[in-house]
Amino acid sequence: MSLFTEKFDGYASRFIGILEDFCATLDKCEPEILSKSLQYSLKIGGKRIRPVLMYTFADLLNVEKEKVDNFALALEMIHTYSLIHDDMPEMDNDDFRRGKPSNHKVFGAANALLAGDGLLNTAYSVLFDECRKGVEYISAASFICDCAGIYGMIAGQSADLLHEHDENCSEKDLGFIYENKTAKLITAPIVVPAILSGSKYYSELNLLGYYLGLLFQITDDILDVEGDFKLLGKSIGKDKEAGKCTAVAVFGLHEAKLRADILTERCLKITEGLEGDVSFIKDLITFVRTRSD
Ligand code: IPE
Ligand code: IPE
Ligand code: MG
Ligand code: MG
Ligand code: MG
Repeated sequence: MSLFTEKFDGYASRFIGILEDFCATLDKCEPEILSKSLQYSLKIGGKRIRPVLMYTFADLLNVEKEKVDNFALALEMIHTYSLIHDDMPEMDNDDFRRGKPSNHKVFGAANALLAGDGLLNTAYSVLFDECRKGVEYISAASFICDCAGIYGMIAGQSADLLHEHDENCSEKDLGFIYENKTAKLITAPIVVPAILSGSKYYSELNLLGYYLGLLFQITDDILDVEGDFKLLGKSIGKDKEAGKCTAVAVFGLHEAKLRADILTERCLKITEGLEGDVSFIKDLITFVRTRSD
């Protein structure tokens, strides 16, 4: 196992421990179908890259990991809810997620809608509890809410639907979609530790989150063209079928890859201005560019 994989898995395992403890509390949630549908999507897997980013930047900024555990939990719940709704027939109509049937294929559309609502609501309860701990926790929670909300992920998802089958979808439209539907929830785990550390590198890390989020979505769009279902755990070829406004649709596959390389360089450049050991962060950036899952 490479040093990178070892460290990535270490952070992901810490998060899975937190998640499992939290899921145990959901056993008492009734009716049983609600409890089951919430836990199904939380537990079936995924890369856990947002929690891994949260711990990575907490370590860089000397913020104790205990301080970010619940922020990572709330964020992964928000991300998971966004995926449940994204897969529903009314949105992307995807039957597979994380290598398993999508939530609505198992529990039906109405229960999937409620599972998504339930995860979002519960994420806010977790964030409210964090707010009791001090003013910087309130700022961190508020940052996550803004990233997830109507000026963040939801706006991006709305624009993503608006531009389906839009042959005139412009670079500007694409930028709006990418920045909001994906980059905001990638920026959150990078900036939350900065807020908890007293805003160290606040603007640099905001910019890093923005570029890394754009890179993350470009690679997602590229993988929709040339990825492997078995590794990705979700159907491929769906973006073209749905007429999505993606980097591949707007620029073509070759230029999308060149743009991904430029974004990778921009991310790496920002890390040069950060004090401390950034080698894992650099590997993480390269992973986002070269990932196959
Ligand atoms: C998928 O996110 C949705 C996008 C923003 C492209 P991930 O690729 O992080 O999904 P999981 O959590 O690993 O399943
Ligand atoms: C989704 O983008 C971003 C979300 C906010 C869920 P995609 O629709 O491209 O994500 P996948 O490919 O279904 O994971
Ligand atoms: Mg989508
Ligand atoms: Mg989708
Ligand atoms: Mg996609």
